[in-house]
Amino acid sequence: MSRSSHRAVGTRSHTGCAGVPAGLPKETREAAGLAPSLFVALLFLAAGATVAGEPDQTGLGHEATSEELSAAGYTVFPDGKGLPEGRGTAREGKAVYQQFCAACHGRNAQGEDAAALVGGRGSLTSERPRKTVESYWPYTTTLWDYVRRSMPYEAPGSLTNDEIYAVVAHLLNLMGLVGENDVLDQESLPTIEMPNRDGFVPDDRPDTQ
Ligand code: HEC
Repeated sequence: MSRSSHRAVGTRSHTGCAGVPAGLPKETREAAGLAPSLFVALLFLAAGATVAGEPDQTGLGHEATSEELSAAGYTVFPDGKGLPEGRGTAREGKAVYQQFCAACHGRNAQGEDAAALVGGRGSLTSERPRKTVESYWPYTTTLWDYVRRSMPYEAPGSLTNDEIYAVVAHLLNLMGLVGENDVLDQESLPTIEMPNRDGFVPDDRPDTQ
């Protein structure tokens, strides 16, 4: 008996929920009260109209601007094609690194909460391979592209091109690949060879669907 009355109460309140969303203000629900199903139908109509017309119902986000779209579609190729104008040195990049990267990757890019970016060179064929940018990545331009696209982790796209050249120069300096005052730009960056440049072989296995 008590079980079935319990179920009845549950059922009634459930119907109430289905008829009018509980989250709506009481007055709104009461105003619509005489015909809950009609009210729901109107809600659906309203929602449909909103989707078709103005999508900004939540107030979150904004329509991507053409600048944002072209930034997202940006690709830098191994030979440097696609690199924008700009310049930076390791000396300048040290400050950028300390401000925007060190908290996660460690003061000397040795790894902290996020991965080590330097070190591990020559370890890939050892018992304990350490994959880092220094030990594994074949192209400096990929590092540039990656940082531009996705770092700092919590604010990708926030660095200027000069800051990216500089912070990349700083990392390459920690790897011993450039001097402190060497200027990196769209001409010089692709000429610097990463240690694992020739560590990849073409995958000649047949493609699978
Ligand atoms: C809030 C923490 C945070 C900050 C700040 C940050 N990173 Fe990262 N970084 C990460 C995480 C997490 C990953 C791994 C992301 C993944 O695998 O999707 C990563 C990955 C990377 C990688 C790829 C490493 C690899 O071997 O795959 C590079 C390069 C890098 N970050 C550079 C930078 C630079 C340069 C900055 C500063 C401009 C920076 N990061 C700032 C958290 C951070």
